[in-house]
Amino acid sequence: MARLTVYTDRPLSTIEPEVYGHFSEHLGRCIYEGIYVGEDSHIPNVNGMRCDVVEALKHIRIPVLRWPGGCFADEYHWKDGIGPKQARKKMINTHWGGVVEDNSFGTHEFFELCRQLGCKTYVNGNVGSGTVQEMAEWVEYMTFDGVSPMADLRRKNGQERPWKVDYFGIGNENWGCGGNMLPQYYANEYRRYRTYVRDFQEGHRINRICGGANVADYEWTREVLDTCFRRTPPECHGKMDGLSLHYYVHPEGWEIKGSATEFDSEVYYKTLSKAYYMDELIAKHGAIMDEYDPDKKVGMIVDEWGTWFTVEPGTNPGFLYQQNTMRDAMVAGITLNIFNQHSDRVKMANLAQMVNVLQAVLLTDGEQMIKTPTYHVFDLYKHHQNGKLLDSQMDTPQIGQGEWQVPMVSHSVSRDSSGAVHLTAVNLSHQEGTALDIQLLGMDIRKARGQMLQGEMHQMNTFAQPDNVALEELTGLGVQGDTLHVTLPPCSVVHICVEG
Ligand code: AHR
Repeated sequence: MARLTVYTDRPLSTIEPEVYGHFSEHLGRCIYEGIYVGEDSHIPNVNGMRCDVVEALKHIRIPVLRWPGGCFADEYHWKDGIGPKQARKKMINTHWGGVVEDNSFGTHEFFELCRQLGCKTYVNGNVGSGTVQEMAEWVEYMTFDGVSPMADLRRKNGQERPWKVDYFGIGNENWGCGGNMLPQYYANEYRRYRTYVRDFQEGHRINRICGGANVADYEWTREVLDTCFRRTPPECHGKMDGLSLHYYVHPEGWEIKGSATEFDSEVYYKTLSKAYYMDELIAKHGAIMDEYDPDKKVGMIVDEWGTWFTVEPGTNPGFLYQQNTMRDAMVAGITLNIFNQHSDRVKMANLAQMVNVLQAVLLTDGEQMIKTPTYHVFDLYKHHQNGKLLDSQMDTPQIGQGEWQVPMVSHSVSRDSSGAVHLTAVNLSHQEGTALDIQLLGMDIRKARGQMLQGEMHQMNTFAQPDNVALEELTGLGVQGDTLHVTLPPCSVVHICVEG
């Protein structure tokens, strides 16, 4: 039995929509096949973008999309991906499978995709193998409205009006694939490169994202902030809007990783316990950020997160294609609740990756497309976007196997602009259901309804059985005074909407 107390008159921070963001890299079948099939494809498309994929992503209200990488970003030279397609340079995607990248999806195509999705744009620049000039010219090409060589080139390529770049990443994983730099060296590069990321548009600022740490590399966070804050005049502090953090869940460690679909109870709890580690990472990196930025002006940007398993048998190891089960739904549910609970600091997060790669929300095979359990979690949680996190207290038993213990129920609660309260809760036990009592202090409950995702821990959707795991109505919601009673089946994720 678990018990939750919600203080409906204690609103905390705003849950930025961007926390429900996605990431799409030139990796495997994410961009090509998964999103972009080209105008001549027999797969229904608008300007080359798959209609089924765009429609599914709009349904979960995708708020922002990060592109073109990832490790790919620090080898990407944007001028290769503009102009007539047949004349675009072909290159080798050295990071991901050594395949030929024909650059048919470039800057214009990215903005067209975001236009169709109605989402914000997050472009990741190249520090590792690019130059300051190259980055400055890209920003000019994308955002300048006047007469200039880059703005003229954009017009020549068919785009009269500049686009809006909402977020711009100064490199990616610069401690690793983005140049193997030391923190102080990178921080100096950040200061140099970001100087030339100009704001050309009145009333619109580009949010500059500084490359952050890998997992628990707290030294990186401290050194970078020290160089960018303590050793920088105060008037320049505002030039960093976000600091990134990357964390992937590998149940069996980086080398072995483990199967996406075959696992036992112990590995299941190990995976969930590793997902919970995100909470500690945010708290510890956040505490360092508080020292330099006590007013929390710099957002923590978790622009890569998710499960990373061994690739599906028979697929290219460089393509990172994996299936997605109810265990992934648990990881998504836990992680998104953690982000909501830390919404005072976490201002954006991007699931890795959107289609056909790692913990994807959509998988495609030719003209077929399926929604994964993770997709349905994003569907349940979309109601938190722009809500006010509410103060709450959960009393739940610990469950698990051996050393891998986790709280049985994970949750977060928010209030939307109409006053409705949204609760998302996950029962992590794959063996037992649990009763959950939810006391909503300060609210007269008029109406409560909910939806649920539930299944055996290995359950997944396949191209033969696309709706094996799907949302259903949550039945048996009881109301008594200011308290709701609900039963959460084993391995389930719920969204409950309460109106007063
Ligand atoms: O998402 C796959 C890869 O993981 C990204 O390219 C890189 O940034 C990270 O190591």
